[in-house]
This record gives sequence, C-alpha cells and structure tokens, in this order.
Amino acid sequence: MSDISDLRHAPQIVDYVFFDSGTGGLPYMLHLKEKSPNTLCIYVADTRNFPYGLKSGSQITSCAEAAVRLILRYFKPRAVVIGCNTISVTALEQLRASFPSLHFVGTVPAIKQAASVTKNGRIGLLATRRTVDEPYTAELANRFAPDCTLITRADPTLIRFIEHDFFTASEAAKKAAVLPAVDFFAEQGVDTIILGCTHFLHMADTIAEAAGAGVCVVDSKEGVVNQALRVGLERFEGSVRPVLPPAEPLYPAYADSTFFITGPEGINEEPYKILSKKLNIPYGGILKDE
Ligand code: DGL
Repeated sequence: MSDISDLRHAPQIVDYVFFDSGTGGLPYMLHLKEKSPNTLCIYVADTRNFPYGLKSGSQITSCAEAAVRLILRYFKPRAVVIGCNTISVTALEQLRASFPSLHFVGTVPAIKQAASVTKNGRIGLLATRRTVDEPYTAELANRFAPDCTLITRADPTLIRFIEHDFFTASEAAKKAAVLPAVDFFAEQGVDTIILGCTHFLHMADTIAEAAGAGVCVVDSKEGVVNQALRVGLERFEGSVRPVLPPAEPLYPAYADSTFFITGPEGINEEPYKILSKKLNIPYGGILKDE
C-alpha cells in the first residue's frame, strides 16, 4: 500500500479519531498522547467546512455527519473525540443517534471549572458565534455557574487567524490578534476567561499573558482527555491492538497521530504541512470521499 486511497478498502482500527473543523483539537490529541503514549490516534480536520462556528445548527449537524461518514471509510475508531465545542454543543446528540455503534467523547466549555476558580463571579466565555448562541451553553451556565455572571464573546476573526496564520505568524502579530478579546473582557471586569473554542488553546499562553496575572484562563483539555482515556479503559480492555507499521514519510496514512484534512480540492496544503512539522506529527493529506 502506498497512499491513503488504499485505506478505503480496509478501514484501519485505531484507538481514537480526533475531529474538529480545523486545527483546534490538536492540543487535545497531543495531550492525550502525552498521558498515554502508546495510544493510536488519528486527527481529522474538516477543513472543507471550516468555520463551523458561523453555520446554523442544522448545517453543523449535516457537516459533522458527513465528516464522520468520511472518517469511517478510512478508519475504525474505538472512540471519536469531538475536539470542537461548536459541534459538541450543537450536534453531539444527533451524532450519537446517527452512529449508535460509535462511542463519542464531546468537548464543552469549561464553565464548571471557571465557576470553581472565579473570585468575583464574573466569567468570560470566548467561543464561536454558534457556541455563544446555543441554548445548551446557557443550560451549562445555569447548571454549573448559577451564581456567576457569564459574559460571552464570539471571535470568528481570532479563530480564522489561528486556523490560517498562527503557525507562521510573528510574536507581535499573535499578541495583536488576542488583544480585542482580552480588552473586551478587561472592560467587563472578568477575572476568569474560558477558552470555549478549541482553537484558542494554541494561544492559551499568549491570551493569559495579555490578560495579566489577575485573570485566570481555563480550558477543557484535561477533562476531555481524562474522559477519553476512561472510555478507552472501559472499551478497549482485552481487545487486540492493531499493529501499524512505524511512522515513515512514505506511509503517512498509517502513522500514529497523522493529521488529515478534508479539502476542499485545491486547498493550499502548505500551512498544514508546516504546522505538522512544527508539532512533529505526520501529515497525511486530504481524505477523499472516493
Ligand atoms: N474549534 C471549534 C470549537 O471548538 C470551532 C471553530 C470553527 O468555527 O469552526 O468550537
């Protein structure tokens, strides 16, 4: 076998497929690999449908369903980690109904954690437009932070910057990119900022630095990864692990932690190759429908 099209005929068993609209779920996969280095992971960025955060609920559901179908043509994951708040708060229930034999782990804004660390009860939620508007997010706030004030900000500009420019941007450009959000929350007097879109985790340090020592920046990475590992322990125990050839450039599709995108056809793949190199993960190219 010499390219990913061959995989279609024999979906590969892997432990986890991480899935997001773009690069946002990568810090989650890398964190899981840190905690559990022998786990076999594949990453799929549904770049042909990026950004999800500006779509309607039904558009998000149908894009996510199509992406999962595409993933299943190539891989047999023991669990799918949705490294995307937007998909999780909007479509996770429907995905579970549409793919009843798959096990999904979702990602939701770390509102509970924020409520446990805030001192003044003013919490900022930085997320996509869809996550901010979705009633499920308000339900989470009512349930886990009933005594706090949640101040929300959708920031599609920052998300686009992270997806397309972050990995090649200068430090000055990175700082400038986070300032509108950080200034907005400072004006609102929040002492805790939730990174409620997975893309922001790439810039967690920059955001924390710009926000200053008085502001706590929280995210869901630890909780999601622990949940994925718990699911793994329950479901994978006693099962035979697949044997994959070692990572080598010729067979990127088979290598552990390979990063795939979904297009569109003609997309400039160079930034994704650069990103893969920087993160030291193999780049697998475009997963095609046929
Ligand atoms: N990374 C995604 C999230 O956590 C969304 C990015 C997008 O708008 O596609 O919500």
